[in-house]
Amino acid sequence: MPTAKFPMRLDKFLGHATELSRELARRALRAKRVTVNDEVVKSASLSVTADDTVMLDDERVEIRGPRYFMLHKPAGYVCATTDADCPTVLDLMGFDGAELSIAGRLDKDTTGLVLLSDDGQWIHSIIAPRRQCLKTYVADLDGPIDDAIVQRFSEGLTLRNEVKPTLPATLEPVAGHQVQVSIGEGRYHQVKRMFAACGRHVEKLHRVKVGSITLDTSLAPGEYRLLTPAEIEGAAS
Ligand code: URA
Repeated sequence: MPTAKFPMRLDKFLGHATELSRELARRALRAKRVTVNDEVVKSASLSVTADDTVMLDDERVEIRGPRYFMLHKPAGYVCATTDADCPTVLDLMGFDGAELSIAGRLDKDTTGLVLLSDDGQWIHSIIAPRRQCLKTYVADLDGPIDDAIVQRFSEGLTLRNEVKPTLPATLEPVAGHQVQVSIGEGRYHQVKRMFAACGRHVEKLHRVKVGSITLDTSLAPGEYRLLTPAEIEGAAS
């Protein structure tokens, strides 16, 4: 499966999804052989998302098979398929609510790597608690960490209003009050609550890795791309 980054120019989309070269795709556009969402389109630079309906000579053109995406989530979007009050990551990507599932949610103010797919088994392999899939975050704190906090993370600590301690987590300093933390669970607001249990407030949280998949630094906030076969294979490892 080619690595395709959305939104994408229409000529590039046609190049990925058909046998046409980019030049032949442009000729097909000039010849009015292409429609996008039922409108004839001649512009090669029109921006399309994976959710647009592109037809060539009245045949649907799509990048086939189950779809696996990484999104660089900006702040301000909720990881839900629908929400009455806030824009969702699916709104951002231009998908309808029920089309894709989200592998592990981020808070509205958290940024970074979100994995989505229409392959339910694959999503399950990432989020199933017994897999303890590692998620890595960079957190900006309101103060420094010390050895005692690192130790509490590594031993597992008890969150407010909970009884069962967290699984051992790794915590490393990055620079200043910035740290990197890896956890194998996905409890509600877990990272923020782990720091709160140690007297620290998380000012910013950014997810950089899920399993073996690292956020592609060429993706600007709001951009997304298809995963490569190697990324799909290794996701839950
Ligand atoms: N932990 C949190 O506290 N928030 C997130 O968004 C993800 C993990």
